[in-house]
Amino acid sequence: MSSELVRRSHNNNNTQTDNHTSSAQSNSSSKSRKPMFVTVLSRLPFLLVGIAIATFLFHFLPSPSASIVTDDSLELALPTRRVLLQEKGRVPLGLKTKRQKRIVVTGGAGFVGSHLVDRLMERGDSVIVVDNFFTGRKENVLHHMGNPNFELIRHDVVEPILLEVDQIYHLACPASPVHYKFNPTNVVGTLNMLGLAKRVGARFLLTSTSEVYGDPLQHPQAETYWGNVNPIGVRSCYDEGKRTAETLTMDYHRGTGIEVRIARIFNTYGPRMCLDDGRVVSNFVAQALRKVPLTVYGDGKQTRSFQYVSDLVDGLMRLMEGEHIGPFNLGNPGEFTMLELAQVVQETIDPNAKIEFRPNTEDDPHKRKPDISKAKELLGWQPTVSLREGLPLMVNDFRLRLLTDSKTIGDKAASAA
Ligand SMILES: NC(=O)c1ccc[n+]([C@@H]2O[C@H](COP(=O)([O-])OP(=O)(O)OC[C@H]3O[C@@H](n4cnc5c(N)ncnc54)[C@H](O)[C@@H]3O)[C@@H](O)[C@H]2O)c1
Repeated sequence: MSSELVRRSHNNNNTQTDNHTSSAQSNSSSKSRKPMFVTVLSRLPFLLVGIAIATFLFHFLPSPSASIVTDDSLELALPTRRVLLQEKGRVPLGLKTKRQKRIVVTGGAGFVGSHLVDRLMERGDSVIVVDNFFTGRKENVLHHMGNPNFELIRHDVVEPILLEVDQIYHLACPASPVHYKFNPTNVVGTLNMLGLAKRVGARFLLTSTSEVYGDPLQHPQAETYWGNVNPIGVRSCYDEGKRTAETLTMDYHRGTGIEVRIARIFNTYGPRMCLDDGRVVSNFVAQALRKVPLTVYGDGKQTRSFQYVSDLVDGLMRLMEGEHIGPFNLGNPGEFTMLELAQVVQETIDPNAKIEFRPNTEDDPHKRKPDISKAKELLGWQPTVSLREGLPLMVNDFRLRLLTDSKTIGDKAASAA
């Protein structure tokens, strides 16, 4: 260090000496101008390169403030949205830009939600799943863990939550009779999510249900039909809950101007359904695989239509991205009696599977079949997967999960012994 200082001071002295000498020479002789001129000439190329670099930087690197306005990346866009949130209490929709969308899927760890999340992630969106795992499973979204575009929040939607998002797919709600009687979250959960949509200016999509038609007096059911619902029955927490959710959605739209979409979903099946949730397709498939009789309630002549989950997800995304509020029926118009469904399950899994009849549950609708003309016309949507094509895909998933379950039980029994 000291030697370095000594060397520098030597250099300074030399420079000073040189300066004195050169100024003395410039006064005395014209010879001294020639080396100076040569020196400037020899440095000219460096000077020109310097000017070129400065010009390039000035023109091609924008200032930080300009990049926030024009850059498409979410990271740079976020400060702008936050500033707007602070200034005006709401942010503009990201829908009309090409920017990556931030989407929350409530109930995203459930059956339908997890398939929707797969498609949104595939599209390159940034997805936040909000789920309390009442009927959903972490395993359904495990394959997205570690992806920076994916977040999973354990949260019950009956409590408010603040998330800065562009779109809200609101699915959180137990959908099967076994579960919804114990956890009627429809009204409060929907109210909270509408509040969130209003606060951050997000577009809100409600997943309503064909149950809003009750035991229908019109067949097939068009969206214009107002339904035939028992307001105080055992299923009312679900069907009346969804009817109230629709009302709230429209009230928020009319009262606060938020953008809303309503889907009325008909029976849907596919991989990742709850194994024992009391829904007819999952019941039959699990029973046939476990080699126990298929339970048919009533005389088995009541009809339902069954939609494969990928068709539904396609319909939900078209609805969210489209211009129309709805409500839209999303379902497969192919109509089957319970007995016909049991036969398809027998053909697919086990021709020797037995059928057992039990008394029907209260308020079970006799007929259910969607009229999907409106979705066809305005969303350009219709289902493409038939029951005979979709069922084997679901059976493979159920078989695997049942095997894993029985292996886990076997392992536990072995380690306990
Ligand atoms: N699958 C169908 O046939 C069908 C038919 C009509 C309507 N729907 C509607 O579609 C949506 C999804 O249905 P699904 O079949 O995937 O059901 P699901 O039970 O598999 O999924 C519902 C998800 O919501 C979560 N959830 C429930 N209550 C919650 C709460 N309070 N807070 C946070 N998360 C909560 C559950 O843990 C689960 O992950 C539901 O709103 C349902 O009413 C489904």
